[in-house]
Amino acid sequence: MAEAREHWSGSLGFVLAAAGSAIGLGNIWKFPYIAGENGGGAFVLIYLICIAIIGLPVMLCEISLGRRTQRNPVGAFKMLSPVRSHLANFIGFSMVFTGIALMFFQEFGWAIVMLLIGGLIIKFGWTVAGILGVVSAFVILSYYSVIGGWTIGYILKAISGHLNYTTETAAAKCFKDFMLNLNWVIPLHFGFMLLCALIILRGVRNGIEKWSKILMPMLFVLLIVLILRGLTLPGAIKGVRFFLSPKMEVINAETVLIALGHAFFTLSLAMGAMITYGSYISREQNLFMSTISIVVLDTTIAILAGLAIFPAVFAMGFKESSGAGLVFNVLPAVFNSIPGGLGWLWATLFFLLLSIAAITSGMSLLEVVVAFLVDELKWKRTKAVVISSTVIALLGVVSAVSFASWDRLEILHIALVKAFHINQGSFFDTMDVLTSNWMLPIGGLTISIFVGWIWGTRKAVEEIRHGSHNFADVHLISLIAGLKDDPSHNNSRYHVLTLASLWGIFIRFITPVAVTIAFLHQIGWLNFK
Ligand code: TRP
Repeated sequence: MAEAREHWSGSLGFVLAAAGSAIGLGNIWKFPYIAGENGGGAFVLIYLICIAIIGLPVMLCEISLGRRTQRNPVGAFKMLSPVRSHLANFIGFSMVFTGIALMFFQEFGWAIVMLLIGGLIIKFGWTVAGILGVVSAFVILSYYSVIGGWTIGYILKAISGHLNYTTETAAAKCFKDFMLNLNWVIPLHFGFMLLCALIILRGVRNGIEKWSKILMPMLFVLLIVLILRGLTLPGAIKGVRFFLSPKMEVINAETVLIALGHAFFTLSLAMGAMITYGSYISREQNLFMSTISIVVLDTTIAILAGLAIFPAVFAMGFKESSGAGLVFNVLPAVFNSIPGGLGWLWATLFFLLLSIAAITSGMSLLEVVVAFLVDELKWKRTKAVVISSTVIALLGVVSAVSFASWDRLEILHIALVKAFHINQGSFFDTMDVLTSNWMLPIGGLTISIFVGWIWGTRKAVEEIRHGSHNFADVHLISLIAGLKDDPSHNNSRYHVLTLASLWGIFIRFITPVAVTIAFLHQIGWLNFK
């Protein structure tokens, strides 16, 4: 007899844990920059719309899938899949034929991928969506952990006063030397994995929930301290302007798609993380309110992160740059230029913030894999954690080495380029493209089609109703009209536009179409120029 499934102690525990998963490197180093670049306030507005009409409905899908089945992603899809699905067979056979066709074009790498996934779909149907989720979590954690290791390394550097650069070139050189130094990077990566593993080992309530309740408030306080420092510098307003003032002229179809892609990434959707966390929710909790809280927290932190970074950057006369460069090359120099000689302190606080964001996301990725091993293979939690984190850590070494330089992995690099024609730079970039451009849209599409058409919105709403009655039954039109409490409106059998029906329409039609357009654009089949 298996042990009873653990559950969160209440809504707060779940909301903080899920927000911990969602709030990660994406919020702190990706969002502020893409917002600034793509139209500032105008982008933020489009992003908010994407979050509200695509991100939120899909998150509600994942969480209700998890709670309904009380299983990891693979178990969840397995449990709700019909014995035979024509749609799944159709997709499976199409992929196999595409695979065979690709053979004729000598595209063997992609051909094998198509044949493999197509074959799996024919054999296992919708369960493959869960398998892909677990595999993605596994792969992503292996490189996420390397970056997690960097952030820990930078805390150590900052606190010991070794990050005292005042120019971007000097800081960039320091970062490069650090990244290339495997004697540092690999132990730090192992350290990061170890921290995640230790938390996951303690289980849902004493591990994930307890640590989320400690780390998330800490993250918030650190962010506020950094914002206060940044905003009180003379000239800070230029940074606020870069980040938030609406620049309508750069808005185009492209912008919308970037916002949509990021909405999936930042909410940790489409990889089974929210299904897994959702599977630890008890029947009494309000799924609808929890989902809204997670989404609001994630968005708030992303916007606050922009306010912590750009005012300081601009006030100190630096130029914005993107991604890792902004965080590791520009910011240390910015912090050291702030008058008062407390550069080491600001840098320490910032990298602590980044590490916390990375750890709470990393542990949710590990939990996806562990939940799969525990539920499906009936492993003991300890065994599952030890073995999965060890294997992921070893795979991460490949990422760590490739960040440093592809030269040491020449055979792998050549094989990848030959087989898939991807040459995106480092292994990390390849992984990033693979996950953000391919796995997230495919996962999001699958989840919305599955919930909308296979499991069915009716059953999903039945699940969401437990504990959140008002979600399903709020009459949207009466609500907007201010007639919510009008008895005849509430009891009328003729009001059909409730929140639940609006959600159903989105999940069945709007989300799949929007995600498909975004996907075709990302892989270059659709061009708006
Ligand atoms: N949401 C995370 C961030 O903003 C990244 C992420 C994407 C993630 N998918 C995930 C984290 C799945 C955990 C699980 O950085």
